[in-house]
Amino acid sequence: MSVESPASTPETIAAPARTAHHRRYLMCRPEHFTVSYTINPWMEPAKPTDTAKAVAQWQKLYDLYLELGHEVELIEPLAGYPDMVYTANGGFLIDGRAYVPKFRFEERAGEAPAFADWFRAAGYDTIIPEEVNEGEGDFLLVGDVILAGTGFRSTGDSHREVGEVFGREVVSLNLVDPRFYHLDTAIAVLDPVQGVENGGPERANIAYLPGAFDDASRAILEERFPDAILVSDEDGSVFGLNSASDGRNVIISPRAKGFEKQLRERGYNPIMIDLSELLLGGGGIKCCTLELRGAK
Ligand code: ARG
Repeated sequence: MSVESPASTPETIAAPARTAHHRRYLMCRPEHFTVSYTINPWMEPAKPTDTAKAVAQWQKLYDLYLELGHEVELIEPLAGYPDMVYTANGGFLIDGRAYVPKFRFEERAGEAPAFADWFRAAGYDTIIPEEVNEGEGDFLLVGDVILAGTGFRSTGDSHREVGEVFGREVVSLNLVDPRFYHLDTAIAVLDPVQGVENGGPERANIAYLPGAFDDASRAILEERFPDAILVSDEDGSVFGLNSASDGRNVIISPRAKGFEKQLRERGYNPIMIDLSELLLGGGGIKCCTLELRGAK
């Protein structure tokens, strides 16, 4: 065995080959981005924001998705809704059906009808919810199962409702750290679809921040995802988990150095995009990305 051969390093042997899968996303250009109210611990209206910088950083993420071969749809930004750039909260979509959000805070309530209109126009069977929920911010599809967060935004009742709407198993998880108030700030789905799409029988995998959950939820995650990447507090605190994956390319914050290394060791291709300006509103890469599954 030659030492030069890359195949002889244990790291290469351990890392499976990953396949990128085509994604369709909905994004919203942050033309009206600012921080004028506080609904999460990251938002400090006294700190100045730079809208042009937010747009330029967002544009890099948009361009990267296209370069990777994904499709990106856009929803028109509404004046007076500075948080609309975080389209992950705009809904939860599977199999051509869209479950619309019902925002916890009044400041964002007006976004919901705009998203509902967009989904209807795009041909989605659009469901208006009864329960408070913030879309893909708190609902993550992993394989066939919906992981659902509660504690700060979406209610436990919305977990029941989303299960009824999609007829899938829902696993409720309790978030306990106010900095990680949406599930997508504490869990990254690395392989969105199970089985065939993953090219094998292995399970869809995730990365998560253990400290963001209570003991019971952590136990559930350990049992369901024994191979998960456990992310350090340091990387979690820079929104390292708020990332988007196509099964091979994982877009992450350049500040999440440890996570970057962990991803490489597992055969993923981390790509760094800096959304520092959007972090002032308490959001990152995943928050700016809503997956459109099964559009007609
Ligand atoms: N300022 C927004 C809020 O607090 C940020 C939303 C971030 N979105 C997310 N999917 N985590 O609602």
